[in-house]
Amino acid sequence: MADLILALDLLDPMYAREVAESCAASLDAIKLGYPLILSAGLGVVKDLADLGLPLIADFKVADIPNTNGLIANQVFSAGFDAIICHGFTGRDAVEACVDAAHAYGGECFVVAEMSHPGALSFFSRGVAEQIATLAVECRADGIIAPATRPERIRALRSVVRSRKIYSPGIGTQGGDLRSVLPLVEGVIVGRTIYGAADPAKEAAVMAAIVNDERSS
Ligand code: C5P
Repeated sequence: MADLILALDLLDPMYAREVAESCAASLDAIKLGYPLILSAGLGVVKDLADLGLPLIADFKVADIPNTNGLIANQVFSAGFDAIICHGFTGRDAVEACVDAAHAYGGECFVVAEMSHPGALSFFSRGVAEQIATLAVECRADGIIAPATRPERIRALRSVVRSRKIYSPGIGTQGGDLRSVLPLVEGVIVGRTIYGAADPAKEAAVMAAIVNDERSS
């Protein structure tokens, strides 16, 4: 039962709103990151709130515990429902994000392994498993694992068990939606939707595939 999560990596706040609104009926959540927030400001969170979808802050937070806690508090007081942090910073830094998330009734996801080719320089096998283990020990709600490497999702599933796995890298980065859906609780899709000639239509096509998988 996977969610369809739109990565809204657009720079023009008006167009971002238009795309989000037109796709909303097909989506389960929207992920916002540096591109849109740096361009539009944190206020964009309130602008999107009326769509009624959970909003995930992808800041891949990676600082010392005090700074992580300050960032996470800003994220949740701005109205986000979940935050993504890095795990390589260690237990205390991850716990600062998890604690802030849970204090607000929100969720925290830890990047276990990234989806791009260069990620293999440092997120080698073993390291990602250690980060996923840390995520579980820190009571994170889930991890981020690469749709570009389904075999890695399977390996990390054995570590996180029933915790959620959200997976970016579908479409433009090469990941295959149908292969990844049975493995995860959420697929994160950016350019394949917002870069399509008709984003709403593309989101609807993907949502239909997601729904097929849910009912199979
Ligand atoms: O456009 P595309 O579908 O490739 O977007 C993927 C989104 O997921 C981007 O927002 C990217 O920053 C994010 N992401 C990723 N790989 C990770 C973690 C996050 O692609 N491991």
